[in-house]
Amino acid sequence: AIKFALLLILAYLIGSFPTGVLVGKIFYHKDIRDYGSHNIGTTNTFRVLGPKAGTIVFLVDFFKGTLATCLPMIFQLGRHDLCLVFGAAAIFGHAFSIFLKFKGGKAVATTAGFLLGYNVHFFLLCASYFIPLLFITSMVSATSLISVVLIFISSFFYHDCFLTVMAGLLVCLIWWSHRSNIKRILSGNENLVPFGIVYWV
Ligand code: G3P
Repeated sequence: AIKFALLLILAYLIGSFPTGVLVGKIFYHKDIRDYGSHNIGTTNTFRVLGPKAGTIVFLVDFFKGTLATCLPMIFQLGRHDLCLVFGAAAIFGHAFSIFLKFKGGKAVATTAGFLLGYNVHFFLLCASYFIPLLFITSMVSATSLISVVLIFISSFFYHDCFLTVMAGLLVCLIWWSHRSNIKRILSGNENLVPFGIVYWV
């Protein structure tokens, strides 16, 4: 039980690692939270600091989710469904980071990394929604909001009730963390990515 508790705290701390803030401060002398959407995640890092920083933040935030999800396998805790709990701890850490006074990101990249760590097949299915939706909507926020609902619906086909519960919680968290984006989408002011079809039409 002590091993389990310590590893769960480790998963939370991995998720809490504030990649966007650190990359901005160390390499660009900017606090990402003062610019763009004020978010610490991949999208805002691309927007404010450019593709190199955005790629680094994406990879680190993504693999935070994968690493934390795989902790039960790495430390041989024995039950695969425990991976969900550890993935949830990392996603929670990313959204409510101990290093950022319990504020944090919108949990999209870390959720994607969790999906890869939990079930590669399910991850690929979810990626197959996300990428075309990003081109169609031209908005990372709208894509994330729609994708997480599709993830929840798809989870029913995996006959894994723990996965469905987790996906339901992720719908709540991601819709909640995108409150400001939802307002911008509804008022027609949401930021667009420079490669969506909105740019072609
Ligand atoms: O990854 C978060 C994304 O869905 C929205 O980011 O910066 O446009 O609020 P942002």
